[in-house]
Amino acid sequence: MSTPQQRIQQLTQELNTHNYNYYVLSEPTISDYEFDILLKELEKLEKENPSYADPNSPTQRVGGEVTKVFQTVTHKYPMLSLGNTYNEQDLTDFDDRIRKAIGDDFEYVCELKYDGLSIGIRYENGVLVQAITRGDGTQGDDVTTNVKTIKSIPLVLKSELEIPASFEIRGEIIMPLKGFEKLNQQRIDNDEAPFANPRNCASGTLKLQDSKEVARRPLDCFLYYFMLDEQRFKTHEESIEFARQLGFKVGSYHKKVANISGVFEFIKHWENERYNLPFDIDGIVIKVNSYAQQQELGFTAKVPRWAISYKYKAQSVSTKLNEITYQVGRTGNITPVANLAPVQLAGTTVKRATLHNANEIERLDIRVGDTVFVEKGGEIIPKITAVDLTQRDAQSAPTQFPTHCPECNTLLVRREGEANHFCPNESHCPPQVIGRIIHFVSRKAMDIDGIGAETVEQFYRADLIKNYADLYDLKFEDIVKLDRMAERSAQNILDGLEQSKKQPFERVLFGLGIRLVGETVAKKLAQHFKNIDALAAATKEAMNAVPEIGDKIADSIIAFFADEENRQMIARMKERGLQFVSEYKELVRDSDALLGKSVLISGVFEGVDREDLKKMVEAHGGKNASGVTGKLDYLLAGENMGPSKLEKAEKLKVKIISLGEFMEMIGS
Ligand code: IVH
Repeated sequence: MSTPQQRIQQLTQELNTHNYNYYVLSEPTISDYEFDILLKELEKLEKENPSYADPNSPTQRVGGEVTKVFQTVTHKYPMLSLGNTYNEQDLTDFDDRIRKAIGDDFEYVCELKYDGLSIGIRYENGVLVQAITRGDGTQGDDVTTNVKTIKSIPLVLKSELEIPASFEIRGEIIMPLKGFEKLNQQRIDNDEAPFANPRNCASGTLKLQDSKEVARRPLDCFLYYFMLDEQRFKTHEESIEFARQLGFKVGSYHKKVANISGVFEFIKHWENERYNLPFDIDGIVIKVNSYAQQQELGFTAKVPRWAISYKYKAQSVSTKLNEITYQVGRTGNITPVANLAPVQLAGTTVKRATLHNANEIERLDIRVGDTVFVEKGGEIIPKITAVDLTQRDAQSAPTQFPTHCPECNTLLVRREGEANHFCPNESHCPPQVIGRIIHFVSRKAMDIDGIGAETVEQFYRADLIKNYADLYDLKFEDIVKLDRMAERSAQNILDGLEQSKKQPFERVLFGLGIRLVGETVAKKLAQHFKNIDALAAATKEAMNAVPEIGDKIADSIIAFFADEENRQMIARMKERGLQFVSEYKELVRDSDALLGKSVLISGVFEGVDREDLKKMVEAHGGKNASGVTGKLDYLLAGENMGPSKLEKAEKLKVKIISLGEFMEMIGS
């Protein structure tokens, strides 16, 4: 007789193996029924012996935990994307660039480009500890609880191998087509809006708060990128095989090829074969196999030089244009939208397509009633590529762009040299006002919990707010009166608003929605002017003195502060306690260790933000350089820096230092 502890261990192991056989290998060795019996036995034993229950037990795959808010976390290594190519010539150019850099002696690995969402999964001592979405590449959402319900992702790695103590593996979470169709049928039966495509379905599922519901949906995950601090593999292929041995699903679709002709063959094979796959792909990924060569090739700011994707040509269909409507955006831009007779395209029903602006309408000479060709590239929004003139009604007349705003009837303006028409009624055109408030509360601006686009719209329609400053005068009684508003949500909103008063000046400035003042510009202005009064009083010349602030931005800022309504809103928000003074203190120098020295920071550094390093350089008397020249004193080299920069620095005899050496220099 085994003890409960032994039986729990035995069952855990058995069930893990069955999960692996079923979900990774697609080769089950027992029936679902037999599996359920084992699972029930384990559940029972765990309940009776809670001290032996393991958070990574196969019983936990059914979910249960609810994630209220997905925490934003910073990726240890930035999550880069890939350069895209669309034809043979682009690929030949890619191949030429590689051969120029490393010669002819190399191999490629071709892989499928899974059409899902990327995920980074971290394992410590063989146990899954965290899973993060790509987010903006620097920061993503912690979706660990939901990822743990995906049965093909091992929670505990097979222990007979020598497992790196800590590593991250990246891959793509997908919704297989069968699961997608089944889910959509259920949604249609329940009168719910179906998902547009499997990718949307996968991302919607991964962001569900209830992990039990996630567990019910058949998400899957293919892994394709092993990230390890130490050098363990010689080739990408080897790393993928290792991942397979650890129990990850890496698929058996990849192929090593000797040269670009091999790549073309692979592409050709999958061009048609992809329709027989049980999941969507949107192209092929081509990677240089050797890690040493990958390192030699390095990265640009955004993408690796050793890999690229090839996207299959968009599918095209024809349909009828029923109507052109005109949308008014947050900044008053008018976007013509084509309303189409619904048509199936690449797994989606297409009903609308953007027409961009009046030039595009003119270029296509598109008219209501026309038969048009619609294409879908990588983007969700389809586009119209041409009009089928053979089908045109002889009576049709050219499309007239409206002269007045469809929302507020103000005369539209089209600035010299600009393609877009816009509505100048900034402060009273409803979509502009609502849009500006939505921008103000959005994640990258004030990040106000509890208020999303719909709530803003609801507040505005109920006459509770006319601008973002009004948000801070909202009262509990007013909010709770609204339709579908629970007391708890109302309090949440007020708490969120209170919390937002702590947001730093640069975010408030970005939130104000001054034309052309994006996140980066707001940061620069906040650092330079330190407070809103100094910015409001600044002349064009003073603004031009800030790097990257040109005449257009300066004019836009001046126009913003010239508006009495804007000044009043700022005064009110100041009174309510929002931050209009930058936290960036006058620089007090920490030491003179780098006095008179110039430093160029290149590459990425584990655990340290590049902006922080730049501040450190200045805090110790140094100057930040922007390129490698003979005058440069130090090149602070991080991971993944471009080989050409390194080469140039070596040639010019610039001293190359590591992060450790840098820290030592500044006595940190
Ligand atoms: S490798 C640094 N391999 O495509 C290289 N990506 O457009 C990292 N993707 O963000 C990516 N299948 O989400 C790689 N076999 C594959 C892929 C793949 C799909 C996605 C991934 C990435 C995006 C880039």
